Amino acid sequence: MNTQTWTPDSWKTKQVRQLPTYPDASQLDDVLDQLRRRPPLVFAGEARRLRRQLANAANGDAFVLQGGDCAESFKEFSSDNVRDTFRVLLQMAVVMTFAAAKPVVKVGRIAGQFAKPRSSDVEIQDGVELPSYRGDSINDMAFAPEARVPDPHRLIKAYDQAAGTLNLLRALASGGYADLHNVHQWTLERLGNSAAGERYQEYADRIGEALAFMRACGVTQDSAPSLEGVDFFTSHEALHLPFEEALTRVDSSTGRYYATSAHLLWIGDRTRQPDGAHVEFMRGLENPIGLKCGPSLDPDELLRLIDILNPQNEAGRLILYARMGADKVGEGLPPLVRKVKAAGKRVVWSCDPMHGNTTKTQNGYKTRIFDSVLSELRQFIEVLRAEGLEPGGVHFEMTGQDVTECVGGAGHLSEADLSSRYHTHCDPRLNADQALEMAFQISDALKPAQGFRRAAE
Ligand code: TRP
Ligand code: MN
Repeated sequence: MNTQTWTPDSWKTKQVRQLPTYPDASQLDDVLDQLRRRPPLVFAGEARRLRRQLANAANGDAFVLQGGDCAESFKEFSSDNVRDTFRVLLQMAVVMTFAAAKPVVKVGRIAGQFAKPRSSDVEIQDGVELPSYRGDSINDMAFAPEARVPDPHRLIKAYDQAAGTLNLLRALASGGYADLHNVHQWTLERLGNSAAGERYQEYADRIGEALAFMRACGVTQDSAPSLEGVDFFTSHEALHLPFEEALTRVDSSTGRYYATSAHLLWIGDRTRQPDGAHVEFMRGLENPIGLKCGPSLDPDELLRLIDILNPQNEAGRLILYARMGADKVGEGLPPLVRKVKAAGKRVVWSCDPMHGNTTKTQNGYKTRIFDSVLSELRQFIEVLRAEGLEPGGVHFEMTGQDVTECVGGAGHLSEADLSSRYHTHCDPRLNADQALEMAFQISDALKPAQGFRRAAE
């Protein structure tokens, strides 16, 4: 157990991985000073609200839907893109809420997902070696020497984009757009004739009927304001510790420290060393925290991490993302789940079926196969149920755009199709159609054990 005192900068005494080296340290200090004076993006009370909702998921009474870009980019930033991602998440949420008859906790991987861990510090193309691209808040993706120099001013730009994104998300979530009565309007035009789109129309019709019936019975917006909007939370990987530290603030009502760059932050599979800087930083925050659990994670090490990050064993504090790969999850996940359960640890088990299923096509595209993603998800559900637990959530890399980055799904995208709209700044994402289809598939997979619960229950 860690008994050292925590401060927002105590991570500096530990080994820090995946941080860029800036050519001019004084420029970074200047930028961090500016960030310290910027307003918080989220509030402590909101982070506590998410913790309460995650506690329900830990108890099997809610399901967490988390999704968004692998990496947000400066170039692709537009209100249409933000709205489209939000819209697909709403569609997925409505499908899953209806099928599982459980509240769905909605978390975007958005408004701050800019910094990327890399497996190598350098990238080699045609014999030329340059520093790796580390995300738009650090350097530029273009393969040119000047582009790859880390520039601290990008952190300000990332903050500003996050603020603009969050402002739009807040408006969409509570300004009327997300009103359940608009369930038909969230359909994307091009989705209308896909299989997932058709199934969505059926759901929307049934929900519309249910709402009309409820209204006739006296349940209106006034008596049930929750129909009018959604709680929507933001999240990203807490990779750039100087940036996160600059946005860490004391909450005046509790005197505790909160990261205010997003409601939920997670620790990646490459930076989860129990004695490393990222774990040190995160343990002192009061936000809900995510932890990626890859195939190399040893069950004892996981317990150690849980004790460091959640010493009071509070449900809602920790969400664990299994990201094993379809071929490893059957063997790799049960020992972790068993150990955590036997120790009585209260966590949300979520599945990230993306990161263990990345492959390369013949012509060099990084891709993911829809059926592998789905296979990992189904196995995840089976493993948890076999241990007597309910799956707590899913975590997708997806976009509302009509991209061609992952293979398969109802649209039958093939490897040859990938070149037409391959836009990701990092990993391949499910497109809107594939994401919605995934929501139906999850709903089907979740149903057998719990059946339909009646609304009146
Ligand atoms: N507020 C409720 C919820 O978030 C109901 C709701 C309103 C809803 N708009 C929605 C559910 C859009 C899913 C999608 O669950
Ligand atoms: Mn990714």
